Amino acid sequence: MKFFLDTAHMPDIRKAAAVGVADGVTTNPTLVAKEKRDFPTLVGEICSVVDGPVSAEVTADDVEGMVREGRALASIAANVVIKVPFGQVGLQAVRALEREKIHTNVTLVFSPLQALLAARAGASYISPFIGRLDDVGHRGMEVVEQTLEILSNYDLHAQVIVASVRHPLHVLEAALIGAPIVTVPPSVLWKLFDHPLTEAGIARFKADWSGLQETLR
Ligand code: E4P
Repeated sequence: MKFFLDTAHMPDIRKAAAVGVADGVTTNPTLVAKEKRDFPTLVGEICSVVDGPVSAEVTADDVEGMVREGRALASIAANVVIKVPFGQVGLQAVRALEREKIHTNVTLVFSPLQALLAARAGASYISPFIGRLDDVGHRGMEVVEQTLEILSNYDLHAQVIVASVRHPLHVLEAALIGAPIVTVPPSVLWKLFDHPLTEAGIARFKADWSGLQETLR
């Protein structure tokens, strides 16, 4: 399973890249707004640090506007993927961009049938939002499971990005059902490294080792 970072915050992206756990990055208008920076410059900076797919979202309401924004963002770097909100307008933009060999990521997907429609439109990536579904009393991961089954039934090649991840259990569940990609906020990513027994084990080994050095002195 690939790990994408769900953030536009450069210090986190640099840190994850250095640790080797930034296979890609997903951003959205909310995440970008937090950075208070020029969007194209920020996208260029992310792409200079991460080789994998970097999703940048269009905000226009019409097909022409989405395609225009998509082309401009795609010209920033070869690994930019255009994030397009699901819908009748969005899927037309997806078809147009993919025809031009510009990769797209259909976002705000909340059902397996929306995912099927996005895949049929030719999307390269599809992002079901599991946390937001859990928030309203649905089982978000079921959407991922059913989406994976449907895509495999019809040999559709869109890659599923498990999105709106809230905690490590989401990551575990995604891995257990074989999701190809999970996009995680930095706060969740760093939690995956933590285990009290690992910390305690390291402290114990260190203490025993320096005890030995003392003995041999
Ligand atoms: C995915 O690409 C989105 O940026 C993200 O996962 C949304 O997550 P949220 O529900 O935490 O805003």
